[in-house]
Amino acid sequence: MKVAVLMGGMSSEREVSLRSGRAVADALRKLGHEVREVDLGEDAVLSLHGLKGWADVAFVCLHGRWGEDGTVQGTLELLGIPYTGSGVLASSLAMSKSTAKEVLAAKGVPVPRGVTGRVEGDGGNRETLLEEVEREVGYPCIVKPDREGSTVGTVVANDREELARGLEEASLYDEMVVVEEFIRGRELTVGILGLHPRPLPVLEVIPSHRIYDYQCKYTPGRTRYLVPAPLPGEVAARLQELALRAHRALGCEGISRVDFILDGEGRAFCLEVNTIPGMTELSLVPKAAQAAGLGFEEVVAEVLSSARLKLPARRGN
Ligand SMILES: Nc1ncnc2c1ncn2[C@@H]1O[C@H](COP(=O)(O)OP(=O)(O)OP(=O)(O)O)[C@@H](O)[C@H]1O
Ligand SMILES: [Mg+2]
Repeated sequence: MKVAVLMGGMSSEREVSLRSGRAVADALRKLGHEVREVDLGEDAVLSLHGLKGWADVAFVCLHGRWGEDGTVQGTLELLGIPYTGSGVLASSLAMSKSTAKEVLAAKGVPVPRGVTGRVEGDGGNRETLLEEVEREVGYPCIVKPDREGSTVGTVVANDREELARGLEEASLYDEMVVVEEFIRGRELTVGILGLHPRPLPVLEVIPSHRIYDYQCKYTPGRTRYLVPAPLPGEVAARLQELALRAHRALGCEGISRVDFILDGEGRAFCLEVNTIPGMTELSLVPKAAQAAGLGFEEVVAEVLSSARLKLPARRGN
């Protein structure tokens, strides 16, 4: 098959995406496919158009905005190029942490208490937001941009001054910010894989910092990973069931990774669903897959098999 691996992009997760893309491209070559590595920059639309007629499939390895958020998926739909993973709606739903949490809560997946708002601009007001957070969330809390990844722009706040600074920081990355109760607990993640989606073993992340920040994510030695996570069987099964429910609630396809915090009382809270999780050989989903006896190439092959156009066929084609 002729496969275009889409990587790089213009988000703050560009470097991570390049690593994922190269690893996937190598695996696809080993699987016998003809591969083109495509770094999507400012001229993304032209690059994608250039693939029409050559690519049988686009393997999307973009993280964050302009790639994981439905924009590239929409362009591929218009061009008629089948692509891996989630479609337009699931991608953009999952990209917005606040919107995704509303859908998840409605489908019975517990999420942290929080508020969402703008620091300025349309309906936004710093003071009102500060007061709302203090009334409904309290301290410590965590401030995040609504549509980011890799913990970029995310700050823990213990008082009003830190909260004000956190709102400024997060709003550098997105006009919409999310503030949640800070949940003390164990950090667990569940990969979902396949055309008929199934959960992989639960993986526990033990970062050396208070939160699993950018450094802990990408500097070797800063985090310990335990897979399968040392949990009672019924707790692991419950997390897997919640992860599958979250994947389905947002309409994800092919692959996703659902992040949780398990508090001291055994309550699980879903933080978010990643529709294009990291795909280097050391990333979390490939690690969890390994624990289930699946090698990196097998994971890549499964994701490839999810490739299709997700919207109904156009009339007149
Ligand atoms: N409500 C919370 N309570 C405690 N810690 C949290 C909370 N929300 C986020 N965190 C911490 O911040 C990290 C990043 O948060 P989250 O997973 O929501 O965002 P992200 O930046 O999109 O991550 P990813 O790189 O997985 O896409 C989490 O892994 C966790 O360590
Ligand atoms: Mg996360």
